[in-house]
Amino acid sequence: MTRDSNHFAEIADFAAHEPDLRQTRHHLHANPELSFEEHQTAAFVAERLQDWGYEVTRNVGGLGVVGRLHHGSGTRSIAIRADMDALPIDEATGAPYASRSPGKMHACGHDGHTAMLLGAAEYLARTRHFDGTVNLIFQPAEEAGAGSGAQKMIADGLFERFPCDAIFGLHNHPGAPEGAFLMRSGPLMAASDTVRILIKGRGGHASRPHLTIDPIVAVANLVMSLQTIVSRNVNPTETAVITVGTIHGGTASNVIPDQAEISLSVRSFSPEVRETLERRIKALAISIAEAHGAVAEIEYEKGYPVVVNSEAETAFATDVVRELVGEDKVSLCSLIPGSEDFAYFLEHRPGCFLRLGNGENSAILHSPRYDFNDKNLTVGAALWARLAERYLAAR
Ligand code: NI
Repeated sequence: MTRDSNHFAEIADFAAHEPDLRQTRHHLHANPELSFEEHQTAAFVAERLQDWGYEVTRNVGGLGVVGRLHHGSGTRSIAIRADMDALPIDEATGAPYASRSPGKMHACGHDGHTAMLLGAAEYLARTRHFDGTVNLIFQPAEEAGAGSGAQKMIADGLFERFPCDAIFGLHNHPGAPEGAFLMRSGPLMAASDTVRILIKGRGGHASRPHLTIDPIVAVANLVMSLQTIVSRNVNPTETAVITVGTIHGGTASNVIPDQAEISLSVRSFSPEVRETLERRIKALAISIAEAHGAVAEIEYEKGYPVVVNSEAETAFATDVVRELVGEDKVSLCSLIPGSEDFAYFLEHRPGCFLRLGNGENSAILHSPRYDFNDKNLTVGAALWARLAERYLAAR
């Protein structure tokens, strides 16, 4: 039987494969592996891709796996990425397929992301209803921060070895209805930077403060002043977050310590705001320390950049999700203060990062009670299959 050449993948096309998708997801969920340790997960993915006829490359930037499938004479190529790593969390879902490794858990749904892309992989290989090249990227270590999987795969020549015209990725989204898509062109998720500020004074006896340089008072002043940056230096039409997450100093109430330290999490949605925050944080730390006779030592660690979706690819992906789930299940995504290393891919290629509702009652990401919503497995698999088919449609 030949397929209708106008038929693009629909959710119903995956109904018969739902039990397989579920089994795959539960297998991955029960066997979580932390960032840089995804040996079994990567092998599981690579073996399946190989069985289905993909040209498989392992160990791309660590444990990354790329499955490449070419069909027809088309020269266009698309990349779709799923992340594979779990988190150091003790699972508390009580699910029958709960983690078999204490202290490790798929609490961000990367098990679901991987299962959905595998579902699309099987479908695309079986139906081959596209003209061009599909690159499926299974990325390790999304949660790793500095030196994460995306950075390592790019450094290992990902885009030179597996050229693509555009790249797409997806994250599940607790709080939004299951099966519903949240889309946004332009900035979507925040840049995330970490700052450590050490204020060095001169310690002494608590009863003789005039003979010391008290770093505690300087730090207290600095914590309050940092909160003026978002309210006074950032344009009110833009947004940003500065959180002082730790404050450490001193050992006893009758001792003024030599030094005190704070650490900050800094989030922004544009390169300009990111630069303003860095400049003002450094200026306040240096000048407030100096005003107290102390000295500030600053370590400013740049984390993941802003996830910026390109306009044309977002419009295209939005068309595809509308066709797939209907207009009423597609809405505008609000800015997300979390960060994602998919941002690095988007610095190299145009593309779109989508959010798929995990259910209104879903526990939040990184919670020990979080679980990926299995009802989305066929939705996500159909999405990636249709997106690839539409992007690489014979013309
Ligand atoms: Ni995640």
